[in-house]
Amino acid sequence: KILILDFGSQVTQLIARRVRETHVYCEVHPCDVSSDWVRQFAADGKLKGVILSGSHASVYEVDDRAPDAVFELGVPVLGICYGMQTMAAQLGGKVEGSHSREFGYAEVRAHGHTALLKGIEDFSTPEGHGMLKVWMSHGDKVTELPPGFKLMCSTGNCPIAGMADEMRRFYAVQFHPEVTHTVQGAALLNRFVREICGAQADWIMRDHIEEAVQKIREQVGGEEVILGLSGGVDSSVAAALIHRAIGDQLTCVFVDHGLLRLNEGDMVMDMFAGKLHAKVVRVDASDLFLGELAGVSEPEQKRKIIGRLFVDVFKAEAEKLKASGQGHKGATFLAQGTIYPDVIESGGAKSKKAVTIKSHHNVGGLPEQLGLKLLEPLRDLFKDEVRELGVALGLPREMVYRHPFPGPGLGVRILGEVKKEYADLLRRADAIFIEELRNFTDEATGKTWYDLTSQAFTVFLPVKSVGVMGDGRTYDYVVALRAVQTSDFMTADWAELPYALLKKVSSRIINEVRGINRVTYDVSSKPPATIEWE
Ligand code: XMP
Repeated sequence: KILILDFGSQVTQLIARRVRETHVYCEVHPCDVSSDWVRQFAADGKLKGVILSGSHASVYEVDDRAPDAVFELGVPVLGICYGMQTMAAQLGGKVEGSHSREFGYAEVRAHGHTALLKGIEDFSTPEGHGMLKVWMSHGDKVTELPPGFKLMCSTGNCPIAGMADEMRRFYAVQFHPEVTHTVQGAALLNRFVREICGAQADWIMRDHIEEAVQKIREQVGGEEVILGLSGGVDSSVAAALIHRAIGDQLTCVFVDHGLLRLNEGDMVMDMFAGKLHAKVVRVDASDLFLGELAGVSEPEQKRKIIGRLFVDVFKAEAEKLKASGQGHKGATFLAQGTIYPDVIESGGAKSKKAVTIKSHHNVGGLPEQLGLKLLEPLRDLFKDEVRELGVALGLPREMVYRHPFPGPGLGVRILGEVKKEYADLLRRADAIFIEELRNFTDEATGKTWYDLTSQAFTVFLPVKSVGVMGDGRTYDYVVALRAVQTSDFMTADWAELPYALLKKVSSRIINEVRGINRVTYDVSSKPPATIEWE
């Protein structure tokens, strides 16, 4: 196993993710664990190496140090950014603050042949120096090597950008190998973990399930858990995992707000209640939601109503379950499918954003209001890891690899006032679009267009246009198809879907969904448009 000590960098979990990708088991712990704790952690003889993360702070602002035991265990240690600085400071080198912050892309020159960097380079200079393209973010830097260390790499701005004591197998880099902008970052971490530490690549998703199950059981004990199931990937995987751990101590509440996709509610029930035999309460609240939305057309107002009602319904259900006391004392935990990017977003850059473009479905305040403790078993995982976990738990691939669906559902895909009639038309049109995206395969890649797009859906436009069908005139509604490609959903390009696919979808929708006589394709990128229309 590998121990990652977290000094508070935003990207510490990325280190863990890169280590997991090498199939080596790792654990992230706060940097202020004691030396005794570290020795205890290593007592089973399985600890193969330690990684010290970066920090958001400077060595002058904080006095976080690695527990001394880290350097006394005889295992390899890798310091990253702040981790390098604290390693230098603790082992007798010198660190200085600097006025010029280095932030972003940099080219690093490797010196000599250290076991860590040998043969790893992006290009070489005419003089034959190996060069690495990396991502840097630091103000302070090491200005004097600790005894026993030699220079491993440097940049113009940062003469000591990496150092190594190959006797003791201590390595450190000032740049961030864990981010993808550092082109050879994964190779470097792989080299450290597999070759220098000699850790075995025997960790697989199944092991993760075992560990996660164990952790949930320890945290929950004999108490009960309630979870809001939405049918989305994250809450579904969380539900399946928690159910695996504690069975009937988990109750899922599935709030059907009447704004779900075609047959979605039945599919969720079939999967969780039917196949997994989990306790699921389905609350049909569509009348309530549609009632409160009647006459409201302003997008933000619609979002707020849906968000508030969701919380109200969920709360009422939780109280009801408690009161019913069916042999239990009521839930003391609220489980959520929070994943790691959500954690970064809520604590990090997002809070600084000056304007709210869209108020997202937010159930953040729920645990306090309900007086419940939080259970978030997916907190450390990235989306693709959550998907892999879902498949390993036996959820159908189709469900786990679905495009994201917004919390307010079709409520933000019906422009203006939401009506049941509109929602019914939209559901049928959207199902046809998705079905054809799954039917059409791109020859070059062998993938379906569903898999080639990040998100695709149909939008209902409450305007009527004239058409002709058979011998008659029609005067019916319009829908827009939207399909985008994106890696982070912050920016997105509209997808260049094949004309044959668009043609098929258009003709099927107009022929099969009475009430829609025109189909358009949205060719706007984000920015300046957004992915959803509201
Ligand atoms: P926009 O429309 O802002 O969407 O470009 C970016 C991504 O966020 C999704 N989205 C939401 N997801 N609750 C969610 O859980 C919401 O209220 C919400 N609004 C938008 C959208 O589907 C896209 O993937």
